[in-house]
Amino acid sequence: TPKGGGKLPFQAIDPVPRTVDRMTVPEGYDWAPVIRWGDPLFADSPEFDINRQTGESQAQQFGYNCDYLNIITDGRNDRSGYLVNSHEYTNEYIMFSPEYIASNFEDVVNVGIAAHGLSIVDLKRDKKGAPWTYVRGGRRNRRITGFTPFAVDGPAAGSKLLQTVEDPTGRRVLGTLNNCAGGTTPWGTVLSGEENFDQYFVGTGSPEEARYGLRPGPTGRQWERVYDRFNLNNPGYKNEANRFGWIVEIDPEDPTSTPVKHTLLGRFKHEAGNVYIAPNGQVAVYMGDDQVNDYVYKFVSKKKYIEGNKKHNMTLLSEGTLYVAQYQGDSPQSEIDGRGTVPSDGDFDGTGRWIPLVKDNRSMVPGMSVDEVLVYTRLAADTVGATKMDRPEDMEPNPVTGKIYLALTNNSSRSLATVDEANPVAPNRDGHVIEMIEDGNDHAGESFTWNILFLAGDPAKSTSAYFSGFPQDQVSPISCPDNLAFDSQGTLWVSTDGQPGKIGYGDALHKVTLEGPERGKVEQFLSVPRDAETCGPVIHDRDNSVFVAVQHPGENGTWGAQTSYFPDYLPASGPVQVGDKVAAPRPTVVQVFSTRGN
Ligand code: FEO
Ligand code: CA
Ligand code: CA
Ligand code: CA
Repeated sequence: TPKGGGKLPFQAIDPVPRTVDRMTVPEGYDWAPVIRWGDPLFADSPEFDINRQTGESQAQQFGYNCDYLNIITDGRNDRSGYLVNSHEYTNEYIMFSPEYIASNFEDVVNVGIAAHGLSIVDLKRDKKGAPWTYVRGGRRNRRITGFTPFAVDGPAAGSKLLQTVEDPTGRRVLGTLNNCAGGTTPWGTVLSGEENFDQYFVGTGSPEEARYGLRPGPTGRQWERVYDRFNLNNPGYKNEANRFGWIVEIDPEDPTSTPVKHTLLGRFKHEAGNVYIAPNGQVAVYMGDDQVNDYVYKFVSKKKYIEGNKKHNMTLLSEGTLYVAQYQGDSPQSEIDGRGTVPSDGDFDGTGRWIPLVKDNRSMVPGMSVDEVLVYTRLAADTVGATKMDRPEDMEPNPVTGKIYLALTNNSSRSLATVDEANPVAPNRDGHVIEMIEDGNDHAGESFTWNILFLAGDPAKSTSAYFSGFPQDQVSPISCPDNLAFDSQGTLWVSTDGQPGKIGYGDALHKVTLEGPERGKVEQFLSVPRDAETCGPVIHDRDNSVFVAVQHPGENGTWGAQTSYFPDYLPASGPVQVGDKVAAPRPTVVQVFSTRGN
């Protein structure tokens, strides 16, 4: 049974004020960049030059705003491996000077599109426990961008809802956008969630678009000035946005493979997809829709996983059942006080069921066809009694116990009129984490139980914080849980997005004990630089290493008044570029390693 802790011993750090522009790690640990925005991936890639970036150079360099991360070693060889990292979005206003944007607008658009997507990069190191470095020209190195062709798979492939003038087949999409968190499948592929795709398109004003946040009027990046497909009002392009908002699957070991968009996993603002193999061999994919008052989903494959047969396993997400979750509290006499729901049995817990939306290629939603349910999944889920949640972010099954963890980051619109036992705080400023257990531990089943692991907050100030009964004076402050990870013992690690604006501390990575008398204990491991978010945590506790993607450092700054210079720290008053150091922050994959050896 998991005890929690793994190796990786550390003394929790004190929370770090939000204005500190550096990595803070525990005593006995140090950190180093693995790869930064703009680092060249191929032998003939141009060097990063902030004054001369073009779409062509960016497509051969590491992308911007690193998010989902995995670090995979080559079998038992602990001196080689690779990373997979998604690049969620771009912040042009701190990437380029206003003069460069004004005089090179088309280049800036092309850099933006090429800085989205994913990177796959080979890694090496001299010995176990040493920090990894990236291999320029590695055999697996690949950039996937907003221009890369994707195949469309599943029941909605070819649907008229996916056809455009550029792709009358509805089966071939250019690019992936806003790739947020993700997961690595047991068969070695990567699932990546297309999240806030609405921000890239000028909408037509239809109600379906509105349910996904699309609006008429110019977009922030104005890609529509260069490419017709980003304006849905242009003739032949009204469906272009329907081609985003999917789970994509990529085979990182084959740089020539065509990545796939899986329509059977539904279209919404996908945070991530994480797979668990049910006892009978069917696979479940757990997924959150990251929007206030949106839903939690699960896909269950029809076919079964076959160990070692990657070709077969890469067909598993093409047939099966898409479900949406309904949560019921079990405290019949829950009361509402000034903060929200107070369960009369003392525990925030209850039962739940998975409501099918599409099953065996049949729509389970009256009045909607299969392709309508898959393309307008939010509208389908609205009609079946799904539970509106407090912004579902990462959702991951624990590889050791099979229990499922769901991060709900916050919901300022949750009110005393809409609280329930699963979303009990009004307003939910700091978010919470729910633990779910499938009935019979059958991940292919249709019912589960759940309980709240913790209600986040700064325990010194919060009146609603709750840590499964663990003493509040012994936990680190935590707010806005986002990405989840597990160490080799099945202990949960939670990273945050938004702490600075809520509890005043920099975004962080925390260890959370799940089992035994210390269940609910939150211990802060690190803090990221100013305005950055802690993404993609990867815990290699057997190697005394932790990896994080430092996303959007300096996001609240402007060119010439940057709030972060991470990780190169050249002051704004100095030359714009010296060698490979720049006067702008660079989103960076960071490794934290033990200085005490292994
Ligand atoms: Fe891209 Fe839900 O964070
Ligand atoms: Ca209860
Ligand atoms: Ca996220
Ligand atoms: Ca986020």
